[in-house]
Amino acid sequence: MEIMAKGRATAWAQLPISLNQLCLATVLRCGQTFRWKASGPDEWSCGFSDRIISLRQSSTHLHYRATFPPLPKSQKPKPQEEEKEQKETLEIVKNYLNLSVDLASLYEKWSQKDPNFKRKAGEFGGVRMLRQEPWECLIGFICSSNNNISRIGQMVDKLCATYGTPLGTITHSFGDKREEVAYHSFPSIESLTAATVEDTLKKLGFGYRAKYIYKTACMVYHDRPVGFLETLRDERDYKEAHAELIKFTGVGPKVADCVCLMSLDKMGAVPVDTHVWQIATRDYKFGKGKHRSLTPAIYEAVGDLFRDLWGEEAGWAHSVLFTADLRAFSDRLENTKTSASKKVKVEVKEEEVKVEIKEEEEEVKTEVKEEEEEAKVDVKVEEVITVVEKRARKRGVNGEVKVKAEVVVKEEVAERRTRRRRR
Ligand SMILES: *[C@@H]1O[C@H](CO)[C@@H](O)[C@H](O)[C@H]1NC(C)=O
Ligand SMILES: *[C@@H]1O[C@H](CO)[C@@H](O)[C@H](O)[C@H]1NC(C)=O
Repeated sequence: MEIMAKGRATAWAQLPISLNQLCLATVLRCGQTFRWKASGPDEWSCGFSDRIISLRQSSTHLHYRATFPPLPKSQKPKPQEEEKEQKETLEIVKNYLNLSVDLASLYEKWSQKDPNFKRKAGEFGGVRMLRQEPWECLIGFICSSNNNISRIGQMVDKLCATYGTPLGTITHSFGDKREEVAYHSFPSIESLTAATVEDTLKKLGFGYRAKYIYKTACMVYHDRPVGFLETLRDERDYKEAHAELIKFTGVGPKVADCVCLMSLDKMGAVPVDTHVWQIATRDYKFGKGKHRSLTPAIYEAVGDLFRDLWGEEAGWAHSVLFTADLRAFSDRLENTKTSASKKVKVEVKEEEVKVEIKEEEEEVKTEVKEEEEEAKVDVKVEEVITVVEKRARKRGVNGEVKVKAEVVVKEEVAERRTRRRRR
């Protein structure tokens, strides 16, 4: 990596916000975004287009500051410019965290409609949706196929370090340990259309996702009007935006729903992965055990179930239960019983958060056809199966669910093997 100079940090500023409106430690680490780095104890930082933003939270306030690329020697920013920068930073923070949405009153609404939500959500206040840049969100979730949060984070980091704009370094500091860490903006659409992108990303360990990223970048850049993704936010409804997104390479219904929910203001989009499907079948008796696999029809039905139940902001509500259900969070819950309504300081063990999804395993198979790299891809499919099996076993701590989960997994594995042979 290039040598980078230390960035120019502004002073910390603050905004009053309660923990039931925002729980930063959860929101930045529960799989919505993969770019925030822990830059100190309870401090996170991320590169935006022209500055690094760092956040901290107390029980009453959100603290934020920006760090800009270093200025040439002996040059100092003018006072008016600093003022302007401060204002912009505040706007970026408010917009990114979508602070205009009153999350506490939404929790109340969902709790009235659904006793299960009320029971589960109590200890998980402040889980709000971020409002990310659509382009960044799209690429991040293309990387998420058959992947886990820590590895997605590493990939996105490499993507930014290779194709983003350098923003300077900031000092990560934990106790005595200090380290200068370089930050970058997220790469522009154009930068990912260079002819060498696919090869470079392959070398960086992106696997089949290298092609998806390159092809999607080319489609957005060459075949769509400028600002196309933003028009999906402002001018298209949920169904239309979803239909446009699945036209991109490497984007299935679930990735499209993540992008709709997390960057396009479609609060009713419910990304259904095996985890959400489990919540639907276990807690809401969806399909009464009849459905074995997540077909497109069932995918939509699960989303409709939640939209009927929670109303038009179902996607936001779903992410609260998704988070409450993650094993690492649940373990933590056991240990925080005493601090009922106080801040739940959630330690996310990133390893525990798996994002693998059936729909996207299908995409792996498509690649077999395209590239006839059967042997290589087989390995990947096996990898996925191992992950699924591991996960099922982990789940199994609560008695007979375990047995059932393992059986289902084995069946799925067998089914997949036959399907592969048949082709
Ligand atoms: C906040 O999010 C909602 C729903 O996603 C959206 O309609 C609204 O425009 C957003 N507002 C701001 C200021 O971010
Ligand atoms: C994430 O996935 C990679 C590749 O499959 C694996 O090697 C790694 O152990 C996983 N990491 C965690 C923390 O689960």
